[in-house]
Amino acid sequence: MRTIHLALLGLGTVGTGVARILREQARHLESQSGARFAIRWVVVRDPSKPRGIELEDGILTTEVDRAISDPEVDIVVELIGGIDPARDLIARSLRAGKHVVTANKAVLAKHGRELFGVANASGRVIGFEAAVAGGIPIVAAVAQGLAANRISSLAGILNGTSNYILTAMHQQGIGYDEALAEAQRLGFAEADPTLDVDGNDALQKLAILSRLAFQSRVPLEAIRRQGIDTLADVDLHFASELGYVIKLLAVAREVEGKLALRVSPTLVARNHPLGQVHNEYNAIKVTGHAIGDTIYLGKGAGMMPTASSVVADLLDVAIGRAQETFRSLKLWDESPPGPPVSDD
Ligand code: NDP
Ligand code: HSE
Repeated sequence: MRTIHLALLGLGTVGTGVARILREQARHLESQSGARFAIRWVVVRDPSKPRGIELEDGILTTEVDRAISDPEVDIVVELIGGIDPARDLIARSLRAGKHVVTANKAVLAKHGRELFGVANASGRVIGFEAAVAGGIPIVAAVAQGLAANRISSLAGILNGTSNYILTAMHQQGIGYDEALAEAQRLGFAEADPTLDVDGNDALQKLAILSRLAFQSRVPLEAIRRQGIDTLADVDLHFASELGYVIKLLAVAREVEGKLALRVSPTLVARNHPLGQVHNEYNAIKVTGHAIGDTIYLGKGAGMMPTASSVVADLLDVAIGRAQETFRSLKLWDESPPGPPVSDD
């Protein structure tokens, strides 16, 4: 059986989940892929930190250059987050002939064109299922399952932390600060949680998903954004009184040949399907011309759900499916054929 060697960059919430699945489900993964995954390096900032998983001797390191240039390594799994040094590490890994799997929506939303360009030039792939909606296989659904459709809209809850906070405030009357602290403790929030509550994390995910669904170039600054950090307790109180809940919705719709995108706190009827999506769950409604409305629901943040998507990408690369999909999608092409983004 083939062995696929991995360099895991980051052993925080998601990295620990990935290491756990690789260890605990080794047999299952072998039967799914016909390959054995072996973690060759785990790169962290602080090797003295206690870790939630036992690692083989000698694989924990701070020497990222050594890990990504190791000729034995087949796939680099980037779970550090943020732009720097992730952008450079992904590009260098691809140039060194490694496939990359990442959960990092920030770097793909901002530097996707550059990084997918490097991947194409290097004949390597970037797997990014975990970058949008955590455990929900929405990238595969949009890129593959719905490929026959012209998609007219995407709408949903794409940030688990905001949804966790809003649920706690609506259902338990917990204050904003306490709810945010709990979302951080549970590992849902970004290293800088401002990105969750100001709507930027949802905006990045919306940009990536819209690029796939509509095949349009989506400049981040063209997306209107408001976060839940602008809400007051009284907003939630009156919403409840009137039979609504407030949800942070991310919406992209084609209107008269142009793509309109926004992220904003929105009143949703309590009995509407999106009104019943609670805690760290995400949900996305995708409307296609042939299929009509489809809804995808699941945990959008957290250790094991996100690791589920990362490992699914590893399997796809091991089988060779990711390489086929990647080639045919022509991701982040110079001139995408989709509608232009509205500047209203
Ligand atoms: P964490 O903060 O929990 O973990 C980050 C890890 O990266 C840590 O192990 C840290 O090392 C390491 N690290 C950070 N900077 C460096 C560096 N410069 N060099 C080497 N190692 C570094 O993050 P998460 O696991 O929560 O998130 C990882 C990625 O996954 C992010 O892109 C995030 O947006 C994305 N994501 C997260 C989800 C979640 O629910 N948490 C869900 C979906 C996506 P050390 O441990 O020593 O500090
Ligand atoms: N911080 C993100 C969220 C993690 O809360 O949705 C998942 O991308």
